[in-house]
Amino acid sequence: MPVLGFGVYQNYDARSSCLEAFKAGYRHVDSAQMYRNEAAVGEAVRESGLNRSDLFITTKCASRSHGYESTLKGVDESLSRFQFDYVDLFLIHDPLSGSDKRLATYKALQECKAAGKIRTVGVSNYNVKHLEEIRNAGYDMPAVNQIELHPFCQQKPIVEYCMKNSIVVQAYCPIIRGQMDHEVFTSIAAKHNRDPAKVLIRWSLQNGYVPLPKSATPSRIHSNAQVFDFELDADDMARIDALDQGKQGAISWNPVDAD
Ligand SMILES: NC(=O)c1ccc[n+]([C@@H]2O[C@H](COP(=O)([O-])OP(=O)(O)OC[C@H]3O[C@@H](n4cnc5c(N)ncnc54)[C@H](OP(=O)(O)O)[C@@H]3O)[C@@H](O)[C@H]2O)c1
Repeated sequence: MPVLGFGVYQNYDARSSCLEAFKAGYRHVDSAQMYRNEAAVGEAVRESGLNRSDLFITTKCASRSHGYESTLKGVDESLSRFQFDYVDLFLIHDPLSGSDKRLATYKALQECKAAGKIRTVGVSNYNVKHLEEIRNAGYDMPAVNQIELHPFCQQKPIVEYCMKNSIVVQAYCPIIRGQMDHEVFTSIAAKHNRDPAKVLIRWSLQNGYVPLPKSATPSRIHSNAQVFDFELDADDMARIDALDQGKQGAISWNPVDAD
């Protein structure tokens, strides 16, 4: 999977933003059924002229549509909206539907993978207990766990579990929804002659996460992708690491504590 993804939550013109993102070099787009822009992402893929096989496209099913039959139907509906033969990664968007439905949804996604409709199955907002539930049910572990993850909300127990179990950690809200006006970020940004968004994206990449910054602003779409020409040093990383506030630092729904 390309290590930098392009988030499209609350992007109401995802077609033109994705086309801009492809120009800027992104090859990975993070969509979801809930974002109501799968069709727009699919259009951008076709209009880009890029090979489908060079792109990595994710979607997700949220808890209100969990369950075995509804997930099978939902996968077909997503494919039809994208007008794709397959999606690269299909995530269970959140763990809020309860144990039985989570596992039924997971089973359906595994079957869609076997049928070639999904290349990879993953989860999102899963805590350690939700991941253990999959293991205890005897299924293959998910390839990915996508969680809120940035300097103020480092989700250490989940990240540690994922790293130990070779589950790729995707970082959502990697640039704290633009709330980066903090002395640590601005001073490190000034030191490297970069902006705070780039510093946060680098911090994520250097920790081995897959950040998914969102922007609907063409200049930011481009600048957020220009993160492979500098490196944070150990001192920068340590200063940012020290900002963790645990769950208090979350700025999104972060439903990792669902029963
Ligand atoms: N699985 C989940 O439950 C879940 C939850 C939330 C998000 N996600 C995924 O993760 C992606 C990223 O998360 P997010 O969209 O919530 O937050 P984010 O990427 O941390 O921040 C996006 C916000 O930052 C602004 N921004 C972008 N680049 C900037 C820059 N260089 N300088 C200053 N501000 C900048 C954007 O404004 P403009 O657009 O106006 O440029 C937007 O308001 C989502 O799009 C979605 O794909 C998943």
